[in-house]
Amino acid sequence: MATTPLNPLDDAAADPFEIARRAADDIARLTGVAQHDIALTLGSGWGKAADLIGETIATIDAPEVTGFSKPALEGHVGTLRSVRTPSGKHVLVIGARTHYYEGHGTRRVVHSVRTAAATGARTMVLTNGAGGIKEHWKPGTPVLISDHINLTADSPLEGATFIDLTDLYSTRLRDLARTVDASLDEGVYCQFRGPQYETPAEVQMAKIIGGHIVGMSTALEAIAARQAGMEVLGFSLITNLAAGISPTPLSHAEVIEAGRAAEPVISDLLARVIGQL
Ligand code: HPA
Repeated sequence: MATTPLNPLDDAAADPFEIARRAADDIARLTGVAQHDIALTLGSGWGKAADLIGETIATIDAPEVTGFSKPALEGHVGTLRSVRTPSGKHVLVIGARTHYYEGHGTRRVVHSVRTAAATGARTMVLTNGAGGIKEHWKPGTPVLISDHINLTADSPLEGATFIDLTDLYSTRLRDLARTVDASLDEGVYCQFRGPQYETPAEVQMAKIIGGHIVGMSTALEAIAARQAGMEVLGFSLITNLAAGISPTPLSHAEVIEAGRAAEPVISDLLARVIGQL
């Protein structure tokens, strides 16, 4: 039987920041781009944005980069791309997200963010597909993330690392996104562990504690981005109304389909926002 190569992040004694630096070196070598300015993680539905941001300089299969693995999910592309915007900014487009529910621990979940920071990126744009709690959000609506509630009971921070998360989702960048689309609504993102969708009772809890969006990513990554000193912009594509608010049961196929249908519009929006950064 073939053995799976060990991910260096699975060695508890390893320094995750040193592994991120090695990954950044791999990216510089494989793309020929010494430094990136902006990083963008693509969630379900956001994949086409990479084509619209600018000229693709290089595409790398994620497993070629230290600490990265193949994506576990359909709808996630499994590559890293270096794209140059018309204004000459270098964008690292991350199409390989490790989700917390895969059970590999927070180091693996936030490795792409730490790697992005090590490539020089100062802005982290995180996107996802998620369930909506506000009933007037139709599937296919993109919304800004204004804040989050981390319901994973976990953290990418190790030891006594006290990080201020006031204004984690930059007000400046949200305002800038609204200069591209003034109709963008916003909400508080609740990261659940997954991979099961929430029960209706869990969705009601999320609503009562101040949540508007439910999903299985982003919050842990945003925390790591702030630790790395990056400015964070977050977008959710509402692929469905959340359980119990939706008149129909949830299915992964529907989530993927809603993402596919919305993709051209939201990708164009995202590319235009990136053009403003
Ligand atoms: N809940 C959690 N994650 C999701 C959802 C949802 O309703 N839709 C897409 N991702």
